[in-house]
Amino acid sequence: MDPDLYAYPDTDRPWLRTNFVCTVDGGAYDAEGVTASLGGDADHEVFQLLRRLADVVMVGAGTARVEKYRASSSTSLALVSRRLDIPDDLVGSGLIVITTTDAPGDRISQLREAGVEVIARGEVEIDWTAVLAELETRGWRRILCEGGPTLHGDLVTLDLVDEVCLTIAPTMTSGDAPRIAHSRHPVTHGMRLGHSVAVGDVLLTRWVRDRT
Ligand SMILES: NC(=O)c1ccc[n+]([C@@H]2O[C@H](COP(=O)([O-])OP(=O)(O)OC[C@H]3O[C@@H](n4cnc5c(N)ncnc54)[C@H](OP(=O)(O)O)[C@@H]3O)[C@@H](O)[C@H]2O)c1
Repeated sequence: MDPDLYAYPDTDRPWLRTNFVCTVDGGAYDAEGVTASLGGDADHEVFQLLRRLADVVMVGAGTARVEKYRASSSTSLALVSRRLDIPDDLVGSGLIVITTTDAPGDRISQLREAGVEVIARGEVEIDWTAVLAELETRGWRRILCEGGPTLHGDLVTLDLVDEVCLTIAPTMTSGDAPRIAHSRHPVTHGMRLGHSVAVGDVLLTRWVRDRT
């Protein structure tokens, strides 16, 4: 995979990229509720490359729980949660948790005692402008969000997603899997095609938010 295809633009603000795989019928996971097997080696390669290019990887707590996320020594991991039901394996120094100011206070204290950095911004709803500003103070502008559909739906609704890397896997699933952005507040946003590369039957695409 040519890394230049996925180079972040040179911007003076945080750039929010998301990475997803979907089935031909638009499902965000397979019949077992996971994604790992969907895109094969090509998707796996892009997944790893995108992690290497990012300053921070952001993921919803639901995905971290289902996909059994592990701490990474190379890239900072920021987990998004309201309830703060964080998998034990992830709790520890190096993890960042993004939440609201009214999240359970005792749990926030517990996490902080365990070395987790808690960024609480916004009441009831996360104040994403404040969160992105906070990440930028650390020099982190290359932000990669690995989902899932609920977190992605919120970010798309707020028009914060600058770029979507989407692998279309050669699989049909039917069933009731959601699409890659799921929200009760639908929006319609224009995108431009960054690239489209076929690797065998797997289609690797990159879409950039059209802000012109
Ligand atoms: N196709 C793909 O590429 C792809 C990518 C990622 C995930 N998935 C699949 O998607 C499924 C999980 O879907 P999901 O929609 O539940 O995932 P999700 O968005 O990762 O998780 C939802 C949970 O994340 C937290 N959360 C999300 N948005 C939030 C916000 N704006 N503010 C505060 N907390 C927020 C909440 O955690 P708390 O409950 O802790 O409060 C919420 O319950 C899994 O089956 C996974 O395999 C697919």
